[in-house]
Amino acid sequence: RKGNATKEQIRLHNLVQQLPRALIIGVRKGGTRALLEMLNLHPAVVKASQEIHFFDNDQNYARGIDWYREKMPFSFPHQITIEKSPAYFITEEVPERIFKMNSSIKLLIIVREPTTRAVSDYTQVLEGKERKNKTYHKFEKLAIDGNTCEVNTKYKAVRTSIYTKHLERWLKYFPVEQFHIVDGDRLITDPLPELQLVERFLNLPSRISQFNLYFNATRGFYCLRFNIVFNKCLAGSKGRIHPEVDPTVVAKLRNFFHPFNQKFYQITGRTFSWP
Ligand code: A3P
Repeated sequence: RKGNATKEQIRLHNLVQQLPRALIIGVRKGGTRALLEMLNLHPAVVKASQEIHFFDNDQNYARGIDWYREKMPFSFPHQITIEKSPAYFITEEVPERIFKMNSSIKLLIIVREPTTRAVSDYTQVLEGKERKNKTYHKFEKLAIDGNTCEVNTKYKAVRTSIYTKHLERWLKYFPVEQFHIVDGDRLITDPLPELQLVERFLNLPSRISQFNLYFNATRGFYCLRFNIVFNKCLAGSKGRIHPEVDPTVVAKLRNFFHPFNQKFYQITGRTFSWP
């Protein structure tokens, strides 16, 4: 057996392992897993289940493109394969490497209000530290420079939320039309319209419907219904409770991100009502 398909099935159905024709390149904590799983509801989409980290990890990249292809699921030739590795968005070498593989690849970026995303990022790291019984600084201490009382731009969770800085690096390789921006805040509250925009961007017929998505009150999130017998919610690590953050720090961060957000709206043509 290879993946989920038997040798016989592979031969009978002409199944192939295809390089991705679309990538979810980021942003970490934007809702990248939810987006991939939800797009996978579409019959013409297959997903690489794991983050492959081919383009951002030098060791993996050195293994070559055939190694990457072999990580892909079997699919029908008409289907499109999607992979997501959120580290791609912020890693210097990645745009050029992806360009060399396929200069016309479609690139998806899912974003959330930058301060919320930074807190989500912090919460994930905090959970990792706690699991190892380690103590960790408070968010406020990391996000604000103790000497200047200004926003600490060296803190990774802050830097990752300066979306325009990263996007500008990508635009040296790919025209803006090759990117589609997904509203990660709306994917949480009302996913279908966001998914329909992605279907259109990928030139796929509209197939994902309200039937495929149902709100699970216990989880507090939308879950996925593939058919009448099979449904699933995302893992419990998606949708963590964020710590409360000092409102003056939140205000400082929002002020800090504001001009970068304006630039991001201007470049992408997609405006959000971020404060
Ligand atoms: P929080 O943990 O901050 O709530 P990523 O997959 O990129 O790490 O993003 C994780 C985020 O996806 C979660 O952030 C959560 O809010 C969001 N998300 C969006 N839709 C979701 C869904 N249907 N189920 C669970 N989490 C979802």
